[in-house]
Amino acid sequence: MTLNQALHLAEHKLVAANIEDASFEAEWLLCHVLQISKAGLYSNPERALRSAEVRKLQHLVWRRLHHEPMAYILECCQFYGIDFYVDGRVLIPRPETELLVEEAIQFARHDFPLGRQPAIADIGTGSGAIAVSLALALPQAVIYATDISPSALQVARTNCERHKVDGRITLLCGNLLQPLPKPVDMIVANLPYVRSCDLSTLSQEITRFEPTTALAGGEDGLGMIRCLLNQLQGRLYPGGCLLLEVGQGQAEAVRSLANNYLPQANTKSIADLGGIDRAIKVML
Ligand SMILES: C[S@@+](CC[C@H](N)C(=O)[O-])C[C@H]1O[C@@H](n2cnc3c(N)ncnc32)[C@H](O)[C@@H]1O
Repeated sequence: MTLNQALHLAEHKLVAANIEDASFEAEWLLCHVLQISKAGLYSNPERALRSAEVRKLQHLVWRRLHHEPMAYILECCQFYGIDFYVDGRVLIPRPETELLVEEAIQFARHDFPLGRQPAIADIGTGSGAIAVSLALALPQAVIYATDISPSALQVARTNCERHKVDGRITLLCGNLLQPLPKPVDMIVANLPYVRSCDLSTLSQEITRFEPTTALAGGEDGLGMIRCLLNQLQGRLYPGGCLLLEVGQGQAEAVRSLANNYLPQANTKSIADLGGIDRAIKVML
């Protein structure tokens, strides 16, 4: 089979299964199998594939036909302009979470007293996307990253090593803020916030492949955020900042929770480019 024939066959199967972007996905899968760029794909369309390459492509197409997300199949996801290794042990980082990174960098660069290295904690780090992005943007920062899932932390370690920030990020396994060895200046958290009743309405790509511990936020979606607020006492320095990602429609409820737990703090909602409140900033 030639490269061109393999490409069309893969595309045909994906189209037949109603996969959106079938033609792009077929290209990515074939590039991944052959470890070549898209330009390489079209520069030699008559090249014959080896039987091992055909088998590998068939297997990857089969995985996609069974709704496995492309990011897991390709073991790669772009977040904040950075390539991250991902697999089924972690949530695939979402573009909306980049807002949290932007706000954290803004706080560390502009609102933080000069002359001191900010200590930052990324709670529920998953792939390490937030922690690694912050470490690359803020070379002076000391960063802790926690997760309850030891296997997610293995993926975070891979990404810390890949981006050479393993010496600057301390990975800690445990429940929310509990593993932190000392108070920090900023806590950034994208915790699970999907309501129990909404879990089954998510796409197959999510429900069958992404870890439930990364999604399930309890009955009203705010269970984990409540637990974190409950643990906050003594974990943030005065003048410190807590940044939380929230689901669509949750901003007001989270602000009111934060005001109950921390009556002296200032809270603010931050909207994404589509005008949806996506993050809550709590300043002590
Ligand atoms: C929504 S995912 C976010 C992952 C990553 N920070 C991101 O933005 O792509 C939530 C993460 O929180 C972790 N998690 C769930 N419960 C936790 C807990 N009690 N303590 C610490 N981490 C927890 C999950 O394992 C998962 O990696």
